[in-house]
Amino acid sequence: MSRYVIEVAYLLSTALFILSLHWMSDPKTARRGVHGGVAAMLVAVLATWGKPEVVNHLWVIIPIALAIIPGVWLSMVPLTAVPQRTALSHAFGGLAAGLVGTAKYFYWISHEPEMLTAFRMTAIILEVILGYLTLTGSLIAAGKLQEVKWIPQRPWVYKGQNFVNFSAFGLAIILGTVLVCAPSMSFLSPFLFVVIILMSLAFGGMLVLPIGGADMPTVISILNSYAGLSAVAMGFVLDNKLLITAGALDGSSGLILSIIMCKAMNRSFFNVLFGAFGQVQQKKAEGEQQSYKPETVEGAAQIIEQASMVVIVPGYGMAVAQAQHKVRELYDQLKKRGIACKFAIHPVAGRMPGHMNVLLAEAEIPYDDLVEMDSINPDMPQADVCLVLGANDVVNPAARHDKGSPIYGMPIIDADRAKAVFAIKRSKNPGFAGIDNELYFMDKTFMLFGDAKAVVGELVKQLSGSGMH
Ligand code: TAP
Repeated sequence: MSRYVIEVAYLLSTALFILSLHWMSDPKTARRGVHGGVAAMLVAVLATWGKPEVVNHLWVIIPIALAIIPGVWLSMVPLTAVPQRTALSHAFGGLAAGLVGTAKYFYWISHEPEMLTAFRMTAIILEVILGYLTLTGSLIAAGKLQEVKWIPQRPWVYKGQNFVNFSAFGLAIILGTVLVCAPSMSFLSPFLFVVIILMSLAFGGMLVLPIGGADMPTVISILNSYAGLSAVAMGFVLDNKLLITAGALDGSSGLILSIIMCKAMNRSFFNVLFGAFGQVQQKKAEGEQQSYKPETVEGAAQIIEQASMVVIVPGYGMAVAQAQHKVRELYDQLKKRGIACKFAIHPVAGRMPGHMNVLLAEAEIPYDDLVEMDSINPDMPQADVCLVLGANDVVNPAARHDKGSPIYGMPIIDADRAKAVFAIKRSKNPGFAGIDNELYFMDKTFMLFGDAKAVVGELVKQLSGSGMH
């Protein structure tokens, strides 16, 4: 393939990557976004394969054939395992960047030491540090989310931990600087390079171990941005413009997503990475003896029947129960009765960005009825019934006024402003933040204890007439 064709293909691929991200920002065009991304990657791989430097095609065919096996396996995981699947993809990305940097260093130092300019060496060091720390960090994150036995789910903390972690990172940076100044000064250089790899691997794992399992989606998104940045560095090492632009898109989108998530939780980056959130879980209401008002499904159905507007607030519990298809049946029943039904979507409901949107879209609930938090909140006082479905922290009014609460300042869905509230959950246990929910103790709130799928199924039965008297 001529250089000219390859450059044009790279340009096309870059444009497709940008469009793909643009399309993915709206549920209506998200599918097109995925196809656009796949097409961009295909063009990129074919154009790179077509480079004149590729003399032995087996070196391309064999890795692609091998990569198909984990690729197909990863594509078949259930929706609930998508966060850990994403972490594994980042681990592979980090490993690839780390290995390319390592191979380039050892090749150049033994064959063409003059290639190791200060600029290239800086890019190699950044690529290797970011790549390997993304590898181990992502593997630990995936392990925590998958609840692998030998990886602690709770934050794993000890005194002086940040000092130990940053000593490992600091050592990698210092040795990296030494190698940038003198890449092949002595027989010790390759040894220093290996120490940098080991320190980066150790730092990645140690960075993620103190973070609680439930904070992993934010961490995964941060690691996504590290993987992207290591790809940028790899682009400079290999002198490949497409890697630089695609890596920059990856790095910046990961960073933007982490910022959105932190903002929606009213947490800072620093707090997520070093705050060991979820470690101290105080039960605030202990001793206050507040009581819940349980309600029967029949009673709830009778009130819902009379409503003209119902707002459903889905949360993590809906995902755990896989209740989305039953929720669709409930939605159909309400619509059949001429009751307006909207879904209030909190940006961090569930455990991954867009978690609720994906589940509800899977059940084919029309996108127009999924309303973002800021748009639905002004309408909440008009809602006759708010059905809180396995959601907890995202509707806790303590976030507005309780300065001592771990969720203070987090924007919430104003479920407490609806005329009546029914909350479906299995027990009196708290949600992710580990605190009681004031909403559940309000006069207007009634609890429907049980698994979300079973309770919604019962509600549907009642509303469809088979259970109504
Ligand atoms: P949570 O506050 O975690 O509450 C979920 C509730 O669902 C729990 O109270 C639980 O109560 C209930 N539940 C669990 N399984 C259930 C089942 N099978 N049937 C019925 N109920 C069930 O969830 P949320 O309101 O969605 O808030 C999300 C939290 O995660 C926020 O604190 C957020 O900051 C955090 N977070 C989110 C993200 C993203 S990106 N979404 C990332 C990191 C952290 P029972 O055990 O009593 O049933």
